Amino acid sequence: MGRIYRFLDERLNLSPLIGAVADHPIPDHVNVFKSPSAFVYCFGGVSFLLIVLEVLTGMFLMLYYVPSPDHAYQSVNYIQNEVLFGNLVRGIHRVGASATVLMVFLHMLRVYFTGSYKNPRELNWIAGLVLFTAIMGFGFTGYLLPWDQKAYWATAVGVNVAASVPLVGDFLASVLRGGSEVGTLTLSRFFAIHVMFLPAFLIIFLAVHFFMLRRQGISRPL
Ligand code: HEM
Repeated sequence: MGRIYRFLDERLNLSPLIGAVADHPIPDHVNVFKSPSAFVYCFGGVSFLLIVLEVLTGMFLMLYYVPSPDHAYQSVNYIQNEVLFGNLVRGIHRVGASATVLMVFLHMLRVYFTGSYKNPRELNWIAGLVLFTAIMGFGFTGYLLPWDQKAYWATAVGVNVAASVPLVGDFLASVLRGGSEVGTLTLSRFFAIHVMFLPAFLIIFLAVHFFMLRRQGISRPL
């Protein structure tokens, strides 16, 4: 490994880059070996790891999933019952989705109760709110994809909730449905949002979140 690294470093001058990203001391108050209660500072990192796990399992699910009303249910059934480790990969993706929402929420509570949203980190709090919305969007759009009764009616309820927003509700609901009722277009646009729009959005805002975190450093205890 050392030789490979030296080979690349000679040609690409990687050391300053790696130093800028990774070479910084961990403050004592976030070091679990020095202060056991510091585990609350891990929630953001665990959220990130779970997101990576969701991306990886999602990529494997996409090998078999077909986003059309004729085939979606059968393709999920096929993944669940025929594909090697299919039920495991799908199970990790489903449980991982709930765990991600939980972890992001715990992370948000940690940031709130340590007052870390205050000056100078207000913008990072706002970037975090955008990330939270994206994570909820993943959950909402992913729920429809198995295209069973529960998925269909849960989406119908969710779209009706959107329709109840004052002034723009009807417009919002028809954008979500892609028509006047939940159907083929809803499934294909939820799939596109789930695997393309939201991931692109998430990558951009995670980069913004981590950039600000790196510039400002982790907050000190109150
Ligand atoms: C996709 C979800 C998210 C990921 C992967 C993520 C990741 C992280 C990580 C790794 C940190 C470093 C400190 C720590 O882990 O506690 C951090 C800090 C921070 N996050 Fe998040 N975060 C997410 C969502 C949020 C949300 C929803 C909020 C609030 C609305 C938020 C606000 C902040 C703030 C203000 C900091 C700086 C905290 C400090 O300096 O103490 N993040 N985030």
